[in-house]
Amino acid sequence: MTAPAPLWKWVGGKRALLPELRRVVPAEFGRYFDPFVGGGAMFFDLAAQGRLEGGAVLADAAPAVVQAYRGIRDDPEEVIRQLRDLWPLKLAATMKRDEVVAGLFESLRAFLADAATHPSPRVAAALIAHQQLGFNGLWRVNQAGAPNVAAGKSANGAPLEVKVDADLIRACSVALDGVPVVEQATARAQLGLFASSRSTLFNKVEAGDLVYFDPPYLGDFDGYTPEGFGFDDHLRLRSIALDLAARGVHVIVSNSGCPEAVAMWSVEPFHVTRIERPGTVNSDTSKRAPVGEILVHTTRRTG
Ligand SMILES: C[S@@+](CC[C@H](N)C(=O)[O-])C[C@H]1O[C@@H](n2cnc3c(N)ncnc32)[C@H](O)[C@@H]1O
Repeated sequence: MTAPAPLWKWVGGKRALLPELRRVVPAEFGRYFDPFVGGGAMFFDLAAQGRLEGGAVLADAAPAVVQAYRGIRDDPEEVIRQLRDLWPLKLAATMKRDEVVAGLFESLRAFLADAATHPSPRVAAALIAHQQLGFNGLWRVNQAGAPNVAAGKSANGAPLEVKVDADLIRACSVALDGVPVVEQATARAQLGLFASSRSTLFNKVEAGDLVYFDPPYLGDFDGYTPEGFGFDDHLRLRSIALDLAARGVHVIVSNSGCPEAVAMWSVEPFHVTRIERPGTVNSDTSKRAPVGEILVHTTRRTG
């Protein structure tokens, strides 16, 4: 059987870090909360291990991501049908394949610019295709919230194409079954979900639950949304994480290994683990210097 796994490449996606993440996940936990879900590496990994019996809640600030997960959860067959409609390309005799791909990519960008207004299975298909045809699987938006990544290029003569993995889409749909996916447009609203003075979904986080915060990194790329994620947002995130930890919630946070982030998170009761991995945003592969990252966690690391 196909195991659930990320359906699209995502800047800052944590696939490569899963071995490290698994070592700081508590042996037992209640529900799982992932408010910066993006490509969902951790969520799908926990689902594949059958560790989400207690339930899960996902959120993201990018409307396209939220709509896409809802579409995959609610109607995977329609997502697959939509993707197969988009692909393979029907080439008119007079057109070059690259021109057709560029045209399709352009229309996907325009469609995803107001993702919240479109049926969710169509958004899911468009996002999956956009991430495969765009440059380096990057997701970045302009001030109006519209994606503004350039089309990718064929590599080594291999043409760009959209691969439709129907079994993977179905496996992800099973993992998402019954999982609320919440959209919050700004960092303030996103973090407000956890603020104790307000009665929201996230105020239901209880002792023993697990929250994984994977925000845009401090001092790094934060162009997923027009608002970005600034220093004050990081400070606010830290105070929420401290509050949750004091309430007996298991907390894991990812961030950059820059001195400011290390200093910010080197506070009781958190453990800070440093990790190295190649940077992924730099488009020039020859310049991919190792980028330090940190994992901040309330549970002692195993292994
Ligand atoms: C580092 S990525 C998360 C990657 C994810 N863990 C994965 O494995 O793919 C950060 C995520 O935070 C979301 N985000 C960006 N700005 C945000 C904001 N202001 N509030 C909430 N989420 C935000 C982005 O859309 C992005 O999906």
